[in-house]
Amino acid sequence: MSLNISIPNTRQKTIRDLAVQAEHRRNPRLSATQQDELLTRTKSLLKTQNAVLVAHYYVDAELQDLAEETGGFVGDSLEMARFGLENDADTIIVAGVRFMGETAKILSPEKRVLMIETSAECSLDLACPGDEFNEFCDMHPDRTVVVYANTSAEVKARADWVATSSIALDLIKDLSTRGEKILWAPDKFLGAYVQKETAADMVLWQGSCIVHEDFKATALEALKQHLPDAKVLVHPESPGPVIALADVVGSTTQIINAARDLDADTFIVATERGIFHKMQQAAPGKTFIAAPNAGEGAMCESCAECPWMKLNDLPRLEHTLKTGKNEILIDETVRKQAARSITRMVEFNTRDRTA
Ligand code: 13P
Ligand code: SF4
Repeated sequence: MSLNISIPNTRQKTIRDLAVQAEHRRNPRLSATQQDELLTRTKSLLKTQNAVLVAHYYVDAELQDLAEETGGFVGDSLEMARFGLENDADTIIVAGVRFMGETAKILSPEKRVLMIETSAECSLDLACPGDEFNEFCDMHPDRTVVVYANTSAEVKARADWVATSSIALDLIKDLSTRGEKILWAPDKFLGAYVQKETAADMVLWQGSCIVHEDFKATALEALKQHLPDAKVLVHPESPGPVIALADVVGSTTQIINAARDLDADTFIVATERGIFHKMQQAAPGKTFIAAPNAGEGAMCESCAECPWMKLNDLPRLEHTLKTGKNEILIDETVRKQAARSITRMVEFNTRDRTA
């Protein structure tokens, strides 16, 4: 009998329905003039409100550039959390998904944290409701609870540790070496990858990312044969057979660094396509090709786009700045408990991985 916990079909369907709804809520593309005007207005609003824009690599290029041009930041989910902690602006505006806004608020409770779009969900977060997760933990009292950053504040409050994709492997290796048995949630693919690499004793929640689970190993293998000199870069939220074909497996920042540092001209990339903007800046002149993801059950034909990340745009940013709506508020008891497990992650990262 498997100790792992599966996701009911009805919830999987609800998650897919929410993703489709998000796709339909995307604003039409702006003309160049509209975009320039909006950029001017949002820059001025950011300044007058002493606000910083903290963006993930998956959001549109104009938001990433705006963040950097106005003293904000673009990074992976761990770096976003750290930047919010160290920055002294009064307001943090998160261009990303809800768990990223919650993490910023948990670490910086004195700051006002606003989301560009509050309905920017994450399928992993949706797959792991707090009450059911608590029951799962109660069933395994002997296990150290490690949760992926892509979870709600409530789930993080129950955890001993939080981990992002940049740190999961090192953290589980460390805990396992100390003889700890692990309860991991919610990403089954990242969990299985870490389990395989570390041989740790782990039980896994069976959530998944709707973008990364669509990458297809057979089609990737065929593409590799076509491009024998290309290196394959894979985010660990992808299925095991896709990870098995990778030259580098890592977080978004680790993927960008690999594109810059590896001695290759062409890369096949299995992660959300918003990352191409920063990869092209980090490694100009190199060629980046999206890994194949079409097939039965895929969200769309080779799109590799997170529908929730793509809700972040300039019109919604201006609306947030003008109205002050979309503030992240978290119950103080939950926040304090979640802060413990997130702070342990941040400290583990600087203490044990400074190399
Ligand atoms: P990173 O921590 O690698 O930025 O990943 C966040 C995420 O949501 C990937 O889908
Ligand atoms: Fe969540 Fe996947 Fe979107 Fe990342 S890409 S935010 S894991 S749904």
